[in-house]
Amino acid sequence: MKIDQLVETAEAMVAPGKGIIAIDESTGTIAKRLGAVGVENTEENRRTYRELLLTTPKLKEYISGAILYDETLRQSTRDGKPFVDVMNEAGILPGIKVDTGAKDLAGFPGEKVTEGLDGLRERLEEYARMGARFAKWRAVITIGEAMPTDTCIESNAHALARYAALCQEHGIVPIVEPEVLMDGDHDIETCYGVTEATQRAVFRALYEHHVLLEGTILKASMVLPGKDCPEQASVEDVAHATLRCLESAVPAILPGVVFLSGGQSDADATNHLDAMNQIGGTPWPLSFSYGRGMQQAAMELWGKDPAANFEKAQQTVFERARDNGLAAQGKYGA
Ligand code: 13P
Repeated sequence: MKIDQLVETAEAMVAPGKGIIAIDESTGTIAKRLGAVGVENTEENRRTYRELLLTTPKLKEYISGAILYDETLRQSTRDGKPFVDVMNEAGILPGIKVDTGAKDLAGFPGEKVTEGLDGLRERLEEYARMGARFAKWRAVITIGEAMPTDTCIESNAHALARYAALCQEHGIVPIVEPEVLMDGDHDIETCYGVTEATQRAVFRALYEHHVLLEGTILKASMVLPGKDCPEQASVEDVAHATLRCLESAVPAILPGVVFLSGGQSDADATNHLDAMNQIGGTPWPLSFSYGRGMQQAAMELWGKDPAANFEKAQQTVFERARDNGLAAQGKYGA
């Protein structure tokens, strides 16, 4: 195992004041996002939009890496420069989403299990050759009536661990992402219990599969009340609940924890991260790996007039990176 390489990459991913931009929407997901801003889902529009993000001036001041989708890893700028080369020159680590999506878990209506293990070793070998330094696999846990089941949690934890072990075989740092969804009317305590049980199961599976924690990053969901819960929580409550959950479930040796935004508003995603870092005292840096929380404002602006707003949208990306980069140090609201 390339231990030194794994450790070095993982530490660079969570360097002080830096986080990750997730631009790894599958073709189906990006279709929804582009459709919402009135842009046609063609390969050229996807390429142009990803070029906008990846060539944002000064992005590396706050961004350590970007998670790409397979198609994007193979694409180039309008001038023909491969995105991977653009990223390497800009000092942004190339990452790749390698799961093939959350599918219905047979026998458990309403629950999902993430697929993509078949042939993964061969795909990782190619991604490593193409320059990918880290990878992502997202498991989805749904809260509902008698959900999640232990079977759902264990199946997803097992898949995450097998994925992580395969990544490390190729010197690629695995981001393990067990996302507890915000959908539903459950309260924050319910989310706490499910998130803690899920994270514990994931770390147990990683241990059983001989995954090197020093070369692994956790992408966590925050502990939040469901979107439809009548009782919403303050920024401080979310920060304290999320910190307590991580401290209870996540080994101290892990190099870092990054959060997903998961459908929170941009302001919430930034303020929650900032509040956690202001409290501080955790054994790991806490940063971000936002998708929507980094992109939605820029995409809306660009969608209004793609040709005229290209650079303005880049400015918006930079501002979101800066705000979240400050929040990763607890300096955003200071
Ligand atoms: P969001 O921040 O939009 O939840 O996306 C992050 C991500 O990569 C989900 O897998």
